Amino acid sequence: MAKKPKGSWKALGSRNRQVCSAHPERLYMYDNSTHQGLEKKITKRALDIQPFIVMDVMEKALELQKQGHHVVHLEIGEPDLPTPQCICKSGCLAMEKGYTHYTHSLGILELRQAICNHYQEKYGVEVTPDQVLVTSGTSPALLLIFSALLETGDQIIMSDPHYPCYPNYVNFLGAEPVFIKVYEEEGFQLDPDEIRRHLSPKVKAILINSPSNPTGTLLSPEKMKAIARLGVPVISDEIYHGLVYGEKEHSILEFTKDAFVLNGFSKLYAMTGWRLGYVIAPHAFVRPLQKMQQNFIISASSISQWAAITALKEAHEDVRRMWNTYNERRKYMVSRLKDLGFGLATEPQGAFYVFANAKHLSSKSYELAFEILEKAHVGVAPGIDFGENGEGYLRFSYANSLENIREGLDRIENYLRQR
Ligand SMILES: Cc1ncc(COP(=O)(O)O)c(C=O)c1O
Repeated sequence: MAKKPKGSWKALGSRNRQVCSAHPERLYMYDNSTHQGLEKKITKRALDIQPFIVMDVMEKALELQKQGHHVVHLEIGEPDLPTPQCICKSGCLAMEKGYTHYTHSLGILELRQAICNHYQEKYGVEVTPDQVLVTSGTSPALLLIFSALLETGDQIIMSDPHYPCYPNYVNFLGAEPVFIKVYEEEGFQLDPDEIRRHLSPKVKAILINSPSNPTGTLLSPEKMKAIARLGVPVISDEIYHGLVYGEKEHSILEFTKDAFVLNGFSKLYAMTGWRLGYVIAPHAFVRPLQKMQQNFIISASSISQWAAITALKEAHEDVRRMWNTYNERRKYMVSRLKDLGFGLATEPQGAFYVFANAKHLSSKSYELAFEILEKAHVGVAPGIDFGENGEGYLRFSYANSLENIREGLDRIENYLRQR
């Protein structure tokens, strides 16, 4: 069993979990079975991995559904829309043609070239196919980049709130996440001066995610430029690029070449199940990243790679259609949440999330999310899942039909009236 960090701990939710008052963002599993027998041999590294709290909500929602209740899912961070037809057809064609084997470990050259063309056309930046590594989703790309950049004891700066998996990768590698709090009143913008105050020789990278999960915030180009000038490599998770509804998004490569871009097909092309992402890295890092890929993963799925070429070259109309759909839902959700009394100091400009202030209802987002689920039968993600500074917020996903969103928010309205 992993050694329990110091602090005062209390049970949380219905599962075998505890939360520390000093670190409410850190959950601790206390599954008794891990005290006995073979389980004792499980590494601390494996045991220390924190669960996704939103999965608790989903699992509870499924339980309710099994009991015959209808639940509206606003907790899920996955497109509800189908993968566009042209992409699916291209995947089928790849199978028919027998493109069903390993590929070059960096990825199919045509795809890497298409990624370079995309970055050239959209951001005006020059990248070459030998800087691109295609991976089985953005998630393994994160692991490869962190492994190439962080030694044990090193630090990496990221915002709080943040995508919940980020610190888990870092801790897994024996490195340390350093959290910079971002605030609703400031549009959840990372402050370069605040980052500067946290810099030390131990800090090996700064991680940014714009538009962000969970806040939907878009970093201003001025802030990105200032972060790029801090003299520390920047890892930019650009997975929600294309899903922006106001100002244009920027790639970190517009501001510095000392950067790692992470991107993928899961969100913009509704391809979560195809498991495809990529890294654009400075030349010096490509060979080490490639060697890790060769050993640990071999190559990304060939079929998905052929389909992704079609996504980049032919799916513009489909992307436009999905964008319109999300934008319509976003506007509806924002206005309804405001009417329901949730705090939204700045409107989300990207991704498919609204991170709403629910502190007037409860300071404990985990309990509140479960209360809403059990009483109103609507799943929402508790802010605490995204870091200590996310406490008191709820993340509402609009990756669901307008009809379902309307129904979910109606239920919440009724529930709040009675509460
Ligand atoms: C910010 C962010 N980065 C990365 C990922 C992982 O995406 P993928 O499906 O490409 O592994 C997600 C998924 O939710 C995400 O929200």
